[in-house]
Amino acid sequence: MKFFIDTANLEDIKEAQALGVLDGVTTNPSLMAKEGIVGKDNILKHYLDICNIVDGDVSAEVISTDFDGMIKEGLELAELHEQIVVKLPMIADGIKACKYFSDRGIRTNVTLVFSAGQALLAAKAGATYVSPFLGRLDDVSTDGMHLIAEIREIYDNYNFQTQILSASIRHTMHIVNCAKVGSDVMTGPLSAIKGLLKHPLTDIGLKQFIEDAKKMNL
Ligand code: E4P
Repeated sequence: MKFFIDTANLEDIKEAQALGVLDGVTTNPSLMAKEGIVGKDNILKHYLDICNIVDGDVSAEVISTDFDGMIKEGLELAELHEQIVVKLPMIADGIKACKYFSDRGIRTNVTLVFSAGQALLAAKAGATYVSPFLGRLDDVSTDGMHLIAEIREIYDNYNFQTQILSASIRHTMHIVNCAKVGSDVMTGPLSAIKGLLKHPLTDIGLKQFIEDAKKMNL
């Protein structure tokens, strides 16, 4: 399973990259706004900065909600850097734009997916990635992981090449369960990725090894 980090914070991206397990980055307008990035030039520069830190795919979301606007924005984003993946909302014009881009070899990520039917449409339109929002479903007492498993089953039934990018990850068990049901990618915050490191028995065991190593007079 690929690990993407879900942030526009350059320090978090650098830290995840330094860990050696990072395969890409996802951003969205809320994450960009959180970093205080304003103005088109600054936004484009920020995407370039991210591409220069990581080796993998960087999802950059269009703001437009109409077909023409999405095409204009998406082409500009795709031309910015070869690592950019155009992120499109799961609406009719977003699906049309997804088909437009996939027909032209431009990679896409269809976002704001909350049902298996939406994921099926995204795959039919040739999306590179589909982003079901696991955490936001859990937030409203709906089993987000069940959706990931449903999409996996549907994509496998028809050998769709669209990759399941489980998004809105909140914690380590989301990551572990995504891996169990066969999600292709997960995107989560640095805290969830680093959370995978933790186990008290590791800390206790290491403390003991360090104490015993002192007896070896190295
Ligand atoms: C990623 O592509 C999504 O935009 C993101 O994971 C949403 O996460 P949130 O529900 O924590 O905002």
